[in-house]
Amino acid sequence: MTAIPPPISMLAELTHRCPLACPYCSNPLELLKSDTELPTEAWAEIFRQAAALGVLQLHLSGGEPAARRDLADLVGAARDAGLYVNLITSGIGLTEARLDALEARGLDHVQLSLQGVNAAVADRIGGYAGGFDRKMAVAHSIARRGLPLTVNAVMHRHNLDQLPQAIALAAKLGARRIEVACVQFYGWALKNRTALQPSRAQVEAAKATVEEARDSYKGRMQIDFVPPDYYADYPKACMGGWGSTGLNIAPDGTVLPCHAAQTIPGLSFPKVTDLPLADIWYRSDAFMAFRGTDYLPDICQGCARRDRDFGGCRCQAMALAGDARAADPVCRHSPHRGLVDRLLAEADDSPLETVEFAYRR
Ligand code: SF4
Ligand code: FES
Repeated sequence: MTAIPPPISMLAELTHRCPLACPYCSNPLELLKSDTELPTEAWAEIFRQAAALGVLQLHLSGGEPAARRDLADLVGAARDAGLYVNLITSGIGLTEARLDALEARGLDHVQLSLQGVNAAVADRIGGYAGGFDRKMAVAHSIARRGLPLTVNAVMHRHNLDQLPQAIALAAKLGARRIEVACVQFYGWALKNRTALQPSRAQVEAAKATVEEARDSYKGRMQIDFVPPDYYADYPKACMGGWGSTGLNIAPDGTVLPCHAAQTIPGLSFPKVTDLPLADIWYRSDAFMAFRGTDYLPDICQGCARRDRDFGGCRCQAMALAGDARAADPVCRHSPHRGLVDRLLAEADDSPLETVEFAYRR
């Protein structure tokens, strides 16, 4: 294997607490309680270690990071460490006073989630009455402040047909970028897979919409598209390759190569309160487990895409094929591709009004 590069980005899951109850939540089935969360100074130390390690971009996430009362102090600590700070939020809990404080402490960028283009859809998906209106108020405040904004539109069977309106809304809110992210099935989202899986026709229409919108919004708003895994012929290069570009820190300081890594049996994950972050990144068994491509099966070893997708997602290989070393079952060459095709055939056609989501409570 070649030399291990330093990480570029770090996702800090400050808390698992969240006012929304989205059925597509990718957080683990067992959420960490608030009394396990790291205190402010422990996070500040992690930010300093991360910057020393080479991390450039910090994504503050959750749950809902605004559930942390010390959010502005955490932003300040990250900026003091020299990190570019992006806040990933639903907007709920961000009052004018809190936005003032975040701005004063040097917040660089906001990524605001969008559950739907109107209150009827968004509040039904988020399981939070009044959430859409509050989110719009926060979005307007962010625009007034001139803070760079990305809208993260989470798309699935029940809102993908409204993609043109979602793109138009992001532009109206002054977003510089919209990430059209089709639901990926990890964590809690697996419980709602049949209800959320879009149809092939919806996905094809969405691709055409994105292409057209890229032309019409050129120079004004960047449009990124994360298609649904299961309809693809080849897998995504998850995390840009295991342990190669980024790392996640759970609310209690557990360091993870990706958000679903704890679903892979046999791996143990150190806490940054017990070991220096650099030791965990360069030497821990968990990060070494799937670095590079040596462990991949023969179909990947002989494939021209091996160094582009690294065999896809380890956690998806585990979840669907029961083997974290297998080629991602999304791959058309995988002996497990039939599993994915069977799941695609299991979609639930119930309309949004009657579908029974398992909400994340
Ligand atoms: Fe990727 Fe392996 Fe499939 Fe090739 S065979 S496309 S390397 S998952
Ligand atoms: Fe873990 Fe893809 S989510 S490797």
